Amino acid sequence: MELMEKLRHLSEVIPAKIAVLDNVAALEELRVSVLGKKGELTAILRGMGALNPTDRPRVGQLANEVRDQIEAALEDKKTALTATELVHKQQQERIDVTLPGRQIYHAHVHPLSRIIDEATEIFLGLGFSVAEGPEIESEYYNFEALNVPPLHPARDMQDSFYLREGWVMRTQTSPVQVRVMQALSPHHPIRIISPGKVYRRDDDATHSPMFHQIEGLVIDKGVSLAHLKSILLMFARQMFGAEREIRLRPSYFPFTEPSAEVDVSCGTCGGRGCRVCKGTGWVEILGCGMVHPSVLSMSGYDPEVVSGFAFGMGVERIAMLKYNVDDLRHFFVNDYRFIRQF
Ligand code: DAH
Repeated sequence: MELMEKLRHLSEVIPAKIAVLDNVAALEELRVSVLGKKGELTAILRGMGALNPTDRPRVGQLANEVRDQIEAALEDKKTALTATELVHKQQQERIDVTLPGRQIYHAHVHPLSRIIDEATEIFLGLGFSVAEGPEIESEYYNFEALNVPPLHPARDMQDSFYLREGWVMRTQTSPVQVRVMQALSPHHPIRIISPGKVYRRDDDATHSPMFHQIEGLVIDKGVSLAHLKSILLMFARQMFGAEREIRLRPSYFPFTEPSAEVDVSCGTCGGRGCRVCKGTGWVEILGCGMVHPSVLSMSGYDPEVVSGFAFGMGVERIAMLKYNVDDLRHFFVNDYRFIRQF
């Protein structure tokens, strides 16, 4: 009756062990050691065949009872443990409503693209259309056809990235003037702007080796400086505010005669003078002038028949003024803290 002893022993020890277990994994381990293929109780049940037929029913009944008892104890414990483990998990993963939320920032148009878009809208409204030109440009279009022959000192001011002999990364958007004139001369009137990237060997707080310009060109019979000035005034007021004034200061560009630099009245002080305008009440926004007769004739227009004006502005400069940005490099480092302010 050794088997009966073993069974009674199991029916006492196993429920006691179950009672003190504290996790589902250990419980499963115990189940396997008793009821699994090589488990203690399984071994006893297998050994029944060797029993004396008169003992078999009694031992068999007890074995079944012990198995049912252990299975029930395992089941109850498993239910209890699963419930407490769930509660623990929930406590650990509890949502802390006092944590600052993670804000999702929506992407939007880059401030420079915005200035280009706004300026384009303004000029479209004034009857202009948009022309584009290549960033890799020949020296002919970038300099010669704009009245800047080889060795002209104006080339120094636009110290550039030269590619193969005769080719540069364009230093200005002005070569687009030449391309458009060549395409439309000798008779078609022109009224275009051309926004785009330009390249120079400069790098400091107000200069970047790559920056953006918007070029403008108007050619027709009877075009005058008065037209130029009124177009630029309308542009300045739409871009910076209806209360702004502009002034033209005499200047020099090889491709215009006369030439001027244009200032807009300072928006920070209203023209009284402050740090932004260095006390003058004015800030420079672009260069312009009447298209030089040689530039017209080089590209097929007759300066005796038509006249024109041109202008070129720096997009970064406009953006710095409009958004009060003190270092142009902010536009290119893509620091989200900067970009997202616009
Ligand atoms: N291309 C000149 C520059 O990059 C800007 C400019 C001045 C363009 C006068 C013009 C102009 O069309 O008429 O400095």
